[in-house]
Amino acid sequence: MTRMLKRALEGVLTESEAAEFVSAFDQVGEIIIVRIPDPLLARRFEIGRALLDGVKIARSVFCQASAVDGEYRTRKLDLIAGSDDTTTTYRESGCRFVVDVENAFFSPRLSHERERIASLVRDGESVLNMFGGIGMFSVIAAMNAACTVYSVDSNPVASRLCEKNVELNEHYGRKNRKKGRKMAGRVISICGEASQVVRDRFDGTCDRTLMLLPERSDEFLGSAVRATADGGVIHYYSHIHSDSKRDAAALSERHYLDVAPARSEVLDSRIVRAVGPRYYQTVVDAVVRKG
Ligand SMILES: C[S@@+](CC[C@H](N)C(=O)[O-])C[C@H]1O[C@@H](n2cnc3c(N)ncnc32)[C@H](O)[C@@H]1O
Repeated sequence: MTRMLKRALEGVLTESEAAEFVSAFDQVGEIIIVRIPDPLLARRFEIGRALLDGVKIARSVFCQASAVDGEYRTRKLDLIAGSDDTTTTYRESGCRFVVDVENAFFSPRLSHERERIASLVRDGESVLNMFGGIGMFSVIAAMNAACTVYSVDSNPVASRLCEKNVELNEHYGRKNRKKGRKMAGRVISICGEASQVVRDRFDGTCDRTLMLLPERSDEFLGSAVRATADGGVIHYYSHIHSDSKRDAAALSERHYLDVAPARSEVLDSRIVRAVGPRYYQTVVDAVVRKG
C-alpha cells in the first residue's frame, strides 16, 4: 500500500484493516478508485472521506462495484466521497487525455506498453488500432511519428473521447509544444465493430495492427491478418495461464503460431503485466507473410 494511502487512513482503520487494501487503489487525475473488502464495506463513506481529505488534488472517491466486464470492458463505480463526475484529465508521455473511468476502458497500468509501441512506429506507417478505446495508444504513437492511426472502437463514449483527445493533443504534446508544432502524425477515430470496419475499409493496407482485446484475440485474428499488409506487423495480445512467469511469453508465442491463419515470423514476445495469480497479459509481435 502506498505511503500516501496509509497516511490518509491513519486513525480511520487499524493497521490490519488497512493492510486489506493492498493494491486496491488507483489515482487517475483527480479521481481515486478503491476496492473495499467486504468486511469494511459498511464503513465505505468514512474511508472515502478520509481519502478525499488526505490525498491532495482528489475531487472524487469511487468504490469499484463490479469487475471490468462486457463488450466495452467497463466497470461499475459507486461514489463514496466528493463530486459525482467520472471524467477527469490524465497525463502520460507528455500528452493529455480526458478519461471517463466508468464509461470507457482506461488503464494507467499499460503506460510502458504504450511507450514501447510508440517507439516502434515509423514515419509514413498506416496503423490500425482495432480496439482503440479513448485513443491513448493511438495518440501517443502519432505524437512523434508522421503516421496515420485508425483508432476503432465499438463503444460510442470511447470513440467520442478519442476524438476529443486527438483535438487536445494536436496542439499540446510536451515536446511538440516546445518546438511550437503539432502532433507529427494523425489519428482518425472510427466508431464501429472492428471486424466489420476491417471488411469495409481495410484490405491488406496496414503496416501495423494492434489487437488490444486480449480476452478475444483469437476471434479477431483473421480480421487483423486481413487488414495487415504483406510484411506488416501484428501486435497480438492475450491472457496466458503459466505456472512460471519465465514461461509465459514463450507459451503465448506458441499459442499465436498455433492459431495464426497466415505464415508469421515472430519478432518478439513478452509479458505486459500480471493480471492474476499465475495469469499474465502477454504480447507477441509478428510479421505476417502473405506471399
Ligand atoms: C481492453 S480495451 C483496450 C482499449 C485501448 N486500446 C486502451 O488500451 O486503452 C478494449 C476496447 O475494445 C472495445 N471493443 C470491444 N469489442 C469490440 C469490437 N468488436 N470492435 C471494436 N471495439 C471493440 C471496447 O469498447 C474497449 O474500449
